[in-house]
Amino acid sequence: MQSKIAAVLIATFLLVGFSCNKNESGSTASSAGAGAASTTGDIVVGEYGSMTGSEATFGISTDNGVKLAVKERNTAGGVNGRKIKLISYDDQGKQQEVVTAVTRLIQQDHVVAVIGEVASSLSIAGGQVAQRNGVPMISPSSTNPQVTEIGDMISRVCFIDPFQGYVGAKFAYDRGMKTAGVLYDRSQAYSTGLKNDFIKAFKQMGGTVTTEQAYSKGDNDFSAQLTAIRGGNPDFIYVPGYYTDVVNVARQARKLGIKVPLIGGDGWVSEELKNAGDALDGCFFSDHYAHEDPRPEVQEFLKRYQAAYGRTPDSMAALGYDAANLLFDAMTRAKSLDGKDLAAAINSTKDFKGVTGNITIDEKRNARKLAVIQKVQGGSFSYFATVEPPK
Ligand code: PHE
Repeated sequence: MQSKIAAVLIATFLLVGFSCNKNESGSTASSAGAGAASTTGDIVVGEYGSMTGSEATFGISTDNGVKLAVKERNTAGGVNGRKIKLISYDDQGKQQEVVTAVTRLIQQDHVVAVIGEVASSLSIAGGQVAQRNGVPMISPSSTNPQVTEIGDMISRVCFIDPFQGYVGAKFAYDRGMKTAGVLYDRSQAYSTGLKNDFIKAFKQMGGTVTTEQAYSKGDNDFSAQLTAIRGGNPDFIYVPGYYTDVVNVARQARKLGIKVPLIGGDGWVSEELKNAGDALDGCFFSDHYAHEDPRPEVQEFLKRYQAAYGRTPDSMAALGYDAANLLFDAMTRAKSLDGKDLAAAINSTKDFKGVTGNITIDEKRNARKLAVIQKVQGGSFSYFATVEPPK
């Protein structure tokens, strides 16, 4: 109880502190509220992510990738002779924490740019703060279109969900699965958007959705929804959710006698899928990169990441690494590190050689990339196929 009161007091203090520091309220990118970036000393970069909570592996993997990029850059001399200093905050996967973290990075730590988040709803929350303050933000892996629609300060280095939905639909349809049940998380922008994109693409191909069901973050009993889906007898179930829920859905589906494969998106990416035991065997999901890819960029990264962390980098680690390196590259091309100049350099990135592929930031500040399909077996996943963007 005491600590709860203390937490409230600290939060109140921080908020008051922020409003005092803020030199302008409701400022837009064009009248940048963050002030001019300094031109000497370390270059301060911010990062926010879910290092704890039900999506903890998202934040941890991304942070590992970002930190590796920072370390390598500093060893190689930094950016224009200046070292990069990274400040990271745990947002616990919560919207309110995101707002606090991004505000603090900008107002108190005076970062020149922000890297984050993974979950789209959290990137939308953090992106609004960054845009309002005129500080560039790069999301490594949020795929919902709304993230970059916030404004000219916000970009991403990954593909978006209209493509990812198509990838899931095409993969299933081409394998002869023509009827789908759908179970999505209505509390997440990512899950709701990807569900709609999948259904649109699947119907266009000639597929049928037998049953559509929803849950909300924090739910852990999916039996009512799964029973309804079982009644429709679909060829597969599309589950565009995050891994903790996917594990529970899979286990409960098998208990209810549902044998068809589950198919999902990048939200499945986590070593925690092992908690499903064999319930996800023979299931598939779309992803951003495969560590089995023989391209030298991937294999070199794999070696250095394994040496640093003793584990295999997942796609969030690779995208975090790419987001940080793309930011450093933009810094070397920017007229100055002020928000407008830095954002302009980021937004004009062309053919940047990333681990996850060549990255060109398009006019909507998104990246157009390939997707891979991963297959789950025995609690882990491995590369199965590649899907290219439609012509
Ligand atoms: N694309 C997901 C989102 O927008 C996040 C994610 C990316 C999860 C990559 C796993 C791997 O919410």
